[in-house]
Amino acid sequence: MIIAVDGPSGSGKSSTARGVATRLGLQYLDTGAMYRAVTWSVLEHGIDPADTETAAARARDLQLAISTDPQHQTVGADGTDITEAIRDPRISESVSKVAATNLAVRAELIRRQQAIIAAAQQTGGIVVEGRDIATVVAPEAELKVVLTADQEARMARRKAELAEGAVSAEQLRDQIVRRDADDSTVAQFLVASDGAVTVDSTHLSLEEVIDVICRLAKEAE
Ligand code: C5P
Repeated sequence: MIIAVDGPSGSGKSSTARGVATRLGLQYLDTGAMYRAVTWSVLEHGIDPADTETAAARARDLQLAISTDPQHQTVGADGTDITEAIRDPRISESVSKVAATNLAVRAELIRRQQAIIAAAQQTGGIVVEGRDIATVVAPEAELKVVLTADQEARMARRKAELAEGAVSAEQLRDQIVRRDADDSTVAQFLVASDGAVTVDSTHLSLEEVIDVICRLAKEAE
């Protein structure tokens, strides 16, 4: 079974997708982490994120190791553990520039995501989170969820994730609003795909959202 969970930053999709995968005994793929890993490598190599060709070549050459265990997330790039580094605000600021408009980077990562999904299907299935999973990466998913939350709730969640005082409320609002705008330039992002179910998590606890999706998964089986 493939479960697609698409949603904007701060909608709670990572915690939700991990929780659903753990409960249902499925693997888990965080596609945003893959775009973050490419961004990390682009910056590490001193490449200008706006230099689309060089960034795409970096994406193709990158040795990317991402775990699909929902309870033990690790990301490696060219032999370096970057699990923590990809969450740095520096990466959040640049990721849309590398990911959203660079079609060659997208093609490379979509190819890798589809290979991971195909392998996971041999062993029960996978929960895949991102922005374009139901529309582009895995339109064959048995369950397609679009997870939303209003902007205030998303900001509060992002803030809770970051180290105390790492960014100001203004910077955070800026990042979320700007990343939404940058991400919205990609046509396939968050458009309703056939049969997608929208779950608004603004007033739900994490456990409640996980319950809703697990119930939908049972119905979709
Ligand atoms: O989900 P997360 O906020 O970690 O994603 C980081 C960024 O990666 C997004 O803002 C978006 O620009 C990009 N992304 C993407 N396609 C996906 C997942 C994430 O372009 N499937």
